[in-house]
This record gives sequence, structure tokens and C-alpha cells, in this order.
Amino acid sequence: MSTSPMTTVGGRLEADRIVGETARRRTFAVISHPDAGKSTLTEALALHARVIGQAGAVHGKAGRRGTVSDWMDMERDRGISITSAALQFAYRDCVVNLLDTPGHADFSEDTYRVLTAVDAAVMLIDGAKGLEAQTMKLFAVCRHRGIPVVTVVNKWDRPGKAALELMDEVAERTGLTPTPLTWPVGLAGDFRGVLDRRDGSYRRFTRTAGGATVAPEEVLSPAAAAAREGEAWSVAHEEADLLAATAGEHDQELFLSGVTTPVLFASAVSNFGVGQLLDTLVDLAPAPTARPDEAGEPHPVDAPFSAFVFKVQAGMDTGHRDRLAYIRVCSGVFERGMVVTNARTGRPFATKYAQQVFGRDRETIETAYPGDVVGLVNAAALGVGDTLYADRPVTYPPVTTFAPEHFAVARVADTSRYKQFRKGVETLAGEGVVQVLTSERRGDGAPVFAVVGPMQFEVAAHRMEHEFGARIALEPLPYRLARVTDAASAGELSAASGAEVLQRPDGELLALFSDKWSLRVLAQNKPHLTLVPMVAAELG
Ligand code: G4P
Repeated sequence: MSTSPMTTVGGRLEADRIVGETARRRTFAVISHPDAGKSTLTEALALHARVIGQAGAVHGKAGRRGTVSDWMDMERDRGISITSAALQFAYRDCVVNLLDTPGHADFSEDTYRVLTAVDAAVMLIDGAKGLEAQTMKLFAVCRHRGIPVVTVVNKWDRPGKAALELMDEVAERTGLTPTPLTWPVGLAGDFRGVLDRRDGSYRRFTRTAGGATVAPEEVLSPAAAAAREGEAWSVAHEEADLLAATAGEHDQELFLSGVTTPVLFASAVSNFGVGQLLDTLVDLAPAPTARPDEAGEPHPVDAPFSAFVFKVQAGMDTGHRDRLAYIRVCSGVFERGMVVTNARTGRPFATKYAQQVFGRDRETIETAYPGDVVGLVNAAALGVGDTLYADRPVTYPPVTTFAPEHFAVARVADTSRYKQFRKGVETLAGEGVVQVLTSERRGDGAPVFAVVGPMQFEVAAHRMEHEFGARIALEPLPYRLARVTDAASAGELSAASGAEVLQRPDGELLALFSDKWSLRVLAQNKPHLTLVPMVAAELG
């Protein structure tokens, strides 16, 4: 089925429906360091929005809860979730899409790519640890993409840093001005509730057994709060006054333009602050808007269906090696069964098998609107960054390639399997499992795998052996840093010690360096060389 031209009455009604559905969408991801409580918060959000009856049914760590996605043995053994997809739920009159980001310490490029498909991010901080390394890396991507960020300080039920100190840390390290919407009553470890800075009321925190049900929230007037909490309330009140002078109030425009970040205090494990976060997302986070196409022209949300692939994943079902492409809808209505065009190849793609996937659970999806995520099964013809459209051609810009930080030469263990090796390398590169770099000097038989997180190497090696029947040996290279360069600089860079120039499949040249210092010295001594940073952690 295709969307009718918008000139007819029926077409206008259809366009109005799309605009209305789009305005109801909130699509976001949680960015955090491992252990800050992302899985716990995800479960709490799902519980709160009543996707599931009881926390613990969505996903979690091995041994803790029984629903870890198990598409690969490796993943199950380690108790981590390498897959990433979206959880969709209804909250108030909105449809919320929470895109999962793989949360292991060795996280990969997939984590970054998810951020190309969201309209907002929730930066989750452990109240005792403050801003940690991985949070900063992911924040750098949000900043680069201009994604508005809501900050949630988690684990306030445990001893931690002082709230004002955390606000200073956020301001200094991210450059965003924190505008707390709530302020904790009671020090970290003595979490009594929050002062709601928008109306001055007190939201009292009530514990429920094991945090397994939605925590009821008691709302008290300031006078009642003062009588109940005494000193803790007056301290919170004084600090909130102090904030009014320094941090300022929420300003929607400044938030959307990435100048400020609203802050909430929470205890995800007790479900406290979770409803406030959902309300904040519904009230403040942006709905999907017209996405700029390749030429920078915004493509209206009520144009016929269009979407882009932000992630491709293979081998989820061990019995039947399928390939799943996750698309984010950008315009129009997706209807299962529609035949769309892949802008890169010009070929049609039938969307008979469309699913909503989160962890292990898959559900057939019939209709989706801008902001929604759809998993397309049997997607062998789709690659990361591909645009799909119906009726009105459009091409979205390619999904950013993020700066790799680890490099290894891949060689086939058994040379009689060279053909399989080539096919495997090509497939993994197309899926974005690893970036594949080559050079004349190294030759075709020894491509360099470049990754953001070392775990990508393991995934690649595992798949090369089990899926393509080409076991590989990976020989680590001493580089840690990449810069985009050009042909004019390549010769001099290759001659420099501690540097090497390799080519990406799209022809772009990358100069690799072992550390910041060698790069800095070279850049200082030879300022004429082209060395452009890529989007990455190092920018943060
Ligand atoms: P992650 O996905 O960000 O890696 O974190 P995850 O939710 O797995 O949480 C990491 C640990 O922090 C878990 O404890 C979890 O229970 C705990 N946690 C999460 N939110 C809160 C909170 O608001 N307050 C407190 N006190 N703890 C919180 P664990 O010991 O690793 O697992 P478990 O045995 O407790 O489930």
C-alpha cells in the first residue's frame, strides 16, 4: 500500500493523522556508564507505563533475571546484551520509544549509532560517582548531533555526592547549564522525596517491597512538608533558592538548543522519580521533526513513508540465520507489507516481516509512524545508513562513522577458506560490525578491522568462524587514534614514524596514530597536513 497524494481530501486527512501521530511520539535513549542503573530504569519505565506488570520482565543481567536476549552464546555467557532495539509503550497521550543502547564496558559503535535515531537522550548518572567515562563519550555524540539531554541523578537512596556538587560537575564537564526540575529532600542515602521546583510542592518518596510495583507518590504543600521533614526540607528549600540565583529555571528553547539540561533526582530501583521522568519526556522532549535529507533540505513528516537503517544485525536466531535491519521511520506511515525502495540500490524491498524487537521478545508490527523503530527481517539487502522510501524519493545523509580506537589485522587461519573469508569480511563491513580498512601495502588478504570497543573484535571473530566458516587470527596494531586525511597528506603521514594511512571502503583515508602525543607533535611540525577529527569520545 502507498500513501495517497496529499492533494485529495482523503490525502489531507491522512496527512493530518500522520502529523497528529508524530506529535505524540517521543523517541529517546538512555546514555550512562555501566552500572549506573540503565537496565533498572528501563524496567521501571516499562513498569510505570504498564507495558509489563512487574519489573524484571524486560531484560537484565544473566542470573539476575531470565530474559536476556540470547542470540549468541557469547552474549549469554557474559550476561550482556549486545543487541539493541526499541521498547515502545504508551504513556499519557503519548507513544514513547525507548531505544536500547548496549551497555557493556566494551561497548561498540552500535551504541553510538543508536543516537543517530533518537530525538532526545536521558543522561543517567550514579549519584555517588558523578559523570563517568562512558557517559562523557556518549554525551559527546549527543552534543555533536544537537540532541537535547535530560539529566537524571540516580541511586539517591544510597550515600553519594552532594547535590550542589553534582550540579557543578555537570556544568563544568558537559558545558550544559543544569536546570533542576526537582531537588532532593534529604542527603544522598537519606532520600525522603523531592521538592518540585516548578510549583514548590513536596513529592514524598514511598518505598515499595523490592521496588516491584509503582511507588505511590504523596504530594504535600510546602507547609506540610516543613512540618513533616523539618531540617531536611529547609535545607532543600535553601538550596533550591540558591539554584534560582545560579542555575536558573527551565527554558524550553535553551533546552532544545542544547544549552541547558533539566535535572531530576531518582532511585530507579525503588521506582522513585520514574513517573516524573516520563512526565518530563512527554512535556519537554521534542516530537520528531522534519529530518534533513542529503542536501540538507528538511523532509516533512507528512511526506510519504521514509526511514533510514540505523542498525543491522545478523544471526539472532541460531536455528535460522536471519538478518534484521532496524529502521527509524522519518516520514509517513509504515504499513507492514508495503513495498519500499532502497535509495542506495534503487531496488524494491518488501516489508512482509516487520517486528518490534526488544531483547528476546519479538512482536509483529503492523503500522508505525515517524519516531518509531521497526525491525525488518530477511534484510540481507540492507546496510547501515540506507534510506527506504515509498513514492517520493529521498536520501538521508549516511550514518556517521565513529572514530575507531582499536585496530587489528585480520587473517584467515586456513588459506583454503579465503573465499569465505572475503565474503565474511564484506558482510561484516556492510553491517557495520567492524570498520574494514585496507591499503596496498597490507594487501587484500590482511584487512585491518577498526572498532570503537574491543568486544566488536570478538563478535567479528565469532561470526567469521561460525557463520562464514572462516576462522581468523587477529593481530592487534598499536594505534589508538584516527584522523581523516587526504591524498595530498597521505605520503608524508605514511613516512612518519608511529603513523599509518589506510583506506575505508568509501575511499576516505584514515591516518592512524599510537597516541595523542605523536599526533600533536606531527600536527605541530607539519601544520600543512590534513588531520580532521572524527565524531568520538576524544572530542568530549
Ligand atoms: P546498568 O544497566 O546501567 O549496567 O545498571 P543496572 O540497572 O544493572 O544496575 C546496576 C546496579 O545498580 C544493580 O545492582 C542495581 O540493582 C543497582 N541500582 C540501580 N538503580 C539503583 C538505585 O536507584 N538505587 C540503588 N541503591 N541501586 C540501584 P547489582 O548489585 O549489580 O544487581 P542486583 O543484584 O541488585 O540486581
